[in-house]
Amino acid sequence: MKPRGFPGLALSGEFGQNPGMITLNNLSARIVGRLLIDQASVALPAGIKAGLVGKNGAGKSTLFKIITGDMEAETGSVSIPKNARIGQVAQEAPGTEEPLIEIVLKADKEREALLAEAETATDPHRIAEIHMRLSDIHAHSAESRAASILAGLGFDADAQLRPASSFSGGWRMRVALAAVLFSEPDLLLLDEPTNYLDLEGTLWLEDYISKYPHTVIIISHDRDLLNTAVNAIVHLDQQKLTFYRGSYDQFERQRAEANELQTKAKAKNDAARKHLQAFIDRFKAKASKARQAQSRVKALERMGTVSSVIEDHVQGFKFPDPEKKPPRRLSRWKAHQSAIRPASRSCSICRCASIPTTASPCSARTATASPPSPS
Ligand SMILES: Nc1ncnc2c1ncn2[C@@H]1O[C@H](COP(=O)(O)OP(=O)(O)OP(=O)(O)O)[C@@H](O)[C@H]1O
Ligand SMILES: [Mg+2]
Repeated sequence: MKPRGFPGLALSGEFGQNPGMITLNNLSARIVGRLLIDQASVALPAGIKAGLVGKNGAGKSTLFKIITGDMEAETGSVSIPKNARIGQVAQEAPGTEEPLIEIVLKADKEREALLAEAETATDPHRIAEIHMRLSDIHAHSAESRAASILAGLGFDADAQLRPASSFSGGWRMRVALAAVLFSEPDLLLLDEPTNYLDLEGTLWLEDYISKYPHTVIIISHDRDLLNTAVNAIVHLDQQKLTFYRGSYDQFERQRAEANELQTKAKAKNDAARKHLQAFIDRFKAKASKARQAQSRVKALERMGTVSSVIEDHVQGFKFPDPEKKPPRRLSRWKAHQSAIRPASRSCSICRCASIPTTASPCSARTATASPPSPS
């Protein structure tokens, strides 16, 4: 997790009426000479769950780097409230001999520091403070929370006690994801997390994000996730950022409506310009009409043009893999997942015709969500 106040980030604690939001102000960014973001501005309210979308190579991951301070913007600033913590999945997936549960617990740096201090503190006043703070941050429930996140991402109780080194890279990425979720940053940045999740993990994450208590920005190519987990879309398009409230489908509808309006406005503008131009062409050489023609020239200049709609495909959405994704209707299960035995949920993978119930789980299930045993 990034501490606050690292280089490249203009910080501001002055948020007036809306503390907790992140504001990107006149941001520009360039990579190897190519302008990716051009004087873009957007403000995200506190607690929003925003999907960051844009075509491949538009600069979404670059924007994350600017937000975290890993890259400096060419112009502009990023403002987040003082002391807010930004968290993202570690680049290096943990591969140590430590048990997974320990790795995840350690991600909460404050809890770690307080526990360490409690071991050595002698001042009764300070000891009381430490225990009060531990209670405030719900340290007593830390282990069960960490275990529940790991379980959601596919690690059963046994797997949680195994060393990270016994898992492959993909599974370790899940541990890294579990760690950042557990640390519960004020601003959680997730860059295509479903790349290393299976269906079960993806559904669990959708649910987790939608209930996350703070602000989330997630880059994803998964339409289902963007329709389920987020309540806003930030569109990086033609080097600008635009904020839309609602799910991905709502964003698409709003864009389609805006494009239609622009197309109509362009047609109207083109017709009016054509009409004026025809008058000018016809009468500019005629002395009796020259003055009127001249005033039409001025009107034409004042009128300006309406640009065409440039259809910029947002990103290469991955359509559901029939081997992996359930029919859409099965997402209704999610509400009942806790009531369904884990084994029966894998019907979404084998695609048996009937929706399994607790009473009749699918017999042809495939246990894809279990981490491999150490070799
Ligand atoms: N270190 C680098 N050196 C050179 N070019 C880079 C570097 N990092 C990114 N780029 C280029 O900058 C552009 C933006 O990259 P970025 O990763 O931010 O895009 P993105 O929107 O996240 O794309 P994707 O959807 O494919 O993940 C791309 O064209 C990419 O090839
Ligand atoms: Mg990217």
